[in-house]
Amino acid sequence: MDISAPEAGRVATPGRRRLLGFLVGSGVVASLVSIIYPILKFVLPPRRAEMDAETVAAQANELAPGTAKIFRFGNQPAILIRLADGSYRALSAVCTHLNCTVQYRARERDIWCACHNGVYNLQGGNVSGPPPRPLREYAVHVRGKEIVVSRGSRT
Ligand code: FES
Repeated sequence: MDISAPEAGRVATPGRRRLLGFLVGSGVVASLVSIIYPILKFVLPPRRAEMDAETVAAQANELAPGTAKIFRFGNQPAILIRLADGSYRALSAVCTHLNCTVQYRARERDIWCACHNGVYNLQGGNVSGPPPRPLREYAVHVRGKEIVVSRGSRT
Protein backbone atom coordinates (compact mmCIF):
# COMPACT_ATOMS: atom_id res chain seq x y z
CA MET A 1 0.00 0.00 0.00
CA ASP A 2 1.33 3.37 -1.00
CA ILE A 3 0.62 6.06 1.63
CA SER A 4 2.89 8.68 0.14
CA ALA A 5 0.53 9.52 -2.74
CA PRO A 6 -2.15 11.41 -0.67
CA GLU A 7 0.49 13.22 1.42
CA ALA A 8 2.33 14.27 -1.69
CA GLY A 9 -0.79 16.25 -2.72
CA ARG A 10 -0.69 18.28 0.55
CA VAL A 11 2.88 19.39 0.17
CA ALA A 12 3.05 22.92 -1.15
CA THR A 13 4.52 23.19 -4.56
CA PRO A 14 7.39 25.66 -5.14
CA GLY A 15 4.96 28.04 -6.92
CA ARG A 16 2.62 28.10 -3.91
CA ARG A 17 5.50 28.63 -1.52
CA ARG A 18 6.76 31.50 -3.59
CA LEU A 19 3.30 33.07 -3.70
CA LEU A 20 2.83 32.68 0.06
CA GLY A 21 6.27 34.11 0.69
CA PHE A 22 5.50 37.05 -1.56
CA LEU A 23 2.18 37.74 0.18
CA VAL A 24 3.66 37.54 3.68
CA GLY A 25 6.67 39.64 2.67
CA SER A 26 4.43 42.28 1.07
CA GLY A 27 2.31 42.43 4.21
CA VAL A 28 5.36 42.91 6.41
CA VAL A 29 6.77 45.63 4.14
CA ALA A 30 3.40 47.43 3.98
CA SER A 31 3.11 47.30 7.77
CA LEU A 32 6.61 48.73 8.24
CA VAL A 33 5.96 51.54 5.74
CA SER A 34 2.66 52.43 7.44
CA ILE A 35 4.50 52.71 10.77
CA ILE A 36 7.72 54.42 9.63
CA TYR A 37 6.28 56.95 7.15
CA PRO A 38 4.14 58.90 9.68
CA ILE A 39 7.06 58.96 12.12
CA LEU A 40 9.42 60.37 9.47
CA LYS A 41 6.77 62.88 8.35
CA PHE A 42 6.45 64.08 11.94
CA VAL A 43 10.17 64.20 12.73
CA LEU A 44 11.59 65.70 9.52
CA PRO A 45 11.13 69.45 8.91
CA PRO A 46 8.81 70.52 6.08
CA ARG A 47 10.33 71.09 2.67
CA ARG A 48 11.55 74.57 1.89
CA ALA A 49 8.78 75.07 -0.68
CA GLU A 50 6.14 74.48 2.01
CA MET A 51 7.81 76.99 4.30
CA ASP A 52 7.99 79.64 1.57
CA ALA A 53 4.41 79.16 0.55
CA GLU A 54 2.13 82.12 0.38
CA THR A 55 -1.14 82.27 2.23
CA VAL A 56 -4.21 84.36 1.57
CA ALA A 57 -4.65 85.82 5.03
CA ALA A 58 -7.73 87.93 4.37
CA GLN A 59 -9.84 89.62 1.76
CA ALA A 60 -9.10 93.29 1.15
CA ASN A 61 -12.34 94.54 2.72
CA GLU A 62 -12.29 92.10 5.63
CA LEU A 63 -10.37 94.11 8.22
CA ALA A 64 -11.19 97.65 9.26
CA PRO A 65 -8.27 99.86 10.35
CA GLY A 66 -7.32 99.08 13.94
CA THR A 67 -8.38 95.44 13.81
CA ALA A 68 -6.61 92.14 13.34
CA LYS A 69 -7.17 88.48 12.73
CA ILE A 70 -5.36 85.26 13.45
CA PHE A 71 -4.81 83.03 10.44
CA ARG A 72 -3.02 79.78 9.75
CA PHE A 73 0.36 80.23 8.10
CA GLY A 74 1.92 76.87 7.24
CA ASN A 75 1.50 74.89 10.41
CA GLN A 76 1.68 77.90 12.75
CA PRO A 77 -0.72 80.69 13.72
CA ALA A 78 0.06 84.18 12.46
CA ILE A 79 -1.60 87.52 13.02
CA LEU A 80 -2.56 90.04 10.36
CA ILE A 81 -3.03 93.55 11.68
CA ARG A 82 -4.56 96.42 9.77
CA LEU A 83 -2.94 99.51 11.20
CA ALA A 84 -4.74 102.83 11.72
CA ASP A 85 -3.27 104.21 8.46
CA GLY A 86 -4.80 101.31 6.51
CA SER A 87 -1.54 99.42 5.92
CA TYR A 88 -1.09 95.80 6.90
CA ARG A 89 1.45 94.02 9.09
CA ALA A 90 1.79 90.26 9.45
CA LEU A 91 3.62 88.67 12.35
CA SER A 92 4.03 85.23 13.80
CA ALA A 93 1.37 84.71 16.47
CA VAL A 94 3.59 82.33 18.40
CA CYS A 95 4.90 83.95 21.58
CA THR A 96 8.67 83.79 21.80
CA HIS A 97 8.49 82.88 25.48
CA LEU A 98 6.71 79.51 25.63
CA ASN A 99 4.83 79.38 22.31
CA CYS A 100 1.35 80.49 23.39
CA THR A 101 -0.74 82.19 20.71
CA VAL A 102 -0.72 85.96 21.07
CA GLN A 103 -3.66 88.26 20.40
CA TYR A 104 -4.20 91.81 19.21
CA ARG A 105 -5.58 94.32 21.75
CA ALA A 106 -7.23 97.19 19.89
CA ARG A 107 -7.69 99.45 22.93
CA GLU A 108 -4.05 99.13 24.05
CA ARG A 109 -2.83 99.03 20.42
CA ASP A 110 -0.46 96.19 21.17
CA ILE A 111 -0.08 92.44 20.93
CA TRP A 112 -0.59 90.52 24.14
CA CYS A 113 0.21 87.04 25.30
CA ALA A 114 -2.28 85.93 27.93
CA CYS A 115 -0.13 83.07 29.22
CA HIS A 116 2.34 85.21 31.19
CA ASN A 117 1.25 88.74 30.34
CA GLY A 118 3.86 89.28 27.64
CA VAL A 119 3.41 92.43 25.55
CA TYR A 120 4.67 93.24 22.05
CA ASN A 121 4.29 96.46 20.09
CA LEU A 122 2.63 96.52 16.68
CA GLN A 123 6.02 96.09 14.98
CA GLY A 124 6.39 92.80 16.86
CA GLY A 125 9.01 94.09 19.31
CA ASN A 126 8.93 92.56 22.78
CA VAL A 127 8.01 95.42 25.14
CA SER A 128 7.36 93.87 28.53
CA GLY A 129 6.92 90.58 30.30
CA PRO A 130 8.92 87.41 29.75
CA PRO A 131 9.14 87.18 25.92
CA PRO A 132 12.87 87.20 25.09
CA ARG A 133 12.66 88.08 21.38
CA PRO A 134 10.43 89.99 18.95
CA LEU A 135 7.77 88.24 16.91
CA ARG A 136 8.87 87.24 13.43
CA GLU A 137 7.56 89.54 10.72
CA TYR A 138 6.22 88.31 7.39
CA ALA A 139 5.83 90.06 4.05
CA VAL A 140 2.36 91.32 3.12
CA HIS A 141 1.24 91.78 -0.48
CA VAL A 142 -2.05 93.29 -1.53
CA ARG A 143 -3.03 91.47 -4.72
CA GLY A 144 -6.35 92.62 -6.04
CA LYS A 145 -8.90 91.71 -3.44
CA GLU A 146 -6.60 89.43 -1.48
CA ILE A 147 -4.11 90.09 1.30
CA VAL A 148 -1.29 87.59 0.73
CA VAL A 149 1.35 86.81 3.34
CA SER A 150 4.71 85.18 2.63
CA ARG A 151 8.00 84.64 4.40
CA GLY A 152 9.87 86.68 1.81
CA SER A 153 11.05 90.24 2.22
CA ARG A 154 8.48 92.79 3.25
CA THR A 155 6.92 94.92 0.48
S1 FES B 1 4.17 82.19 26.60
FE1 FES B 1 3.82 84.24 26.07
S2 FES B 1 4.50 85.31 27.80
FE2 FES B 1 4.87 83.26 28.32
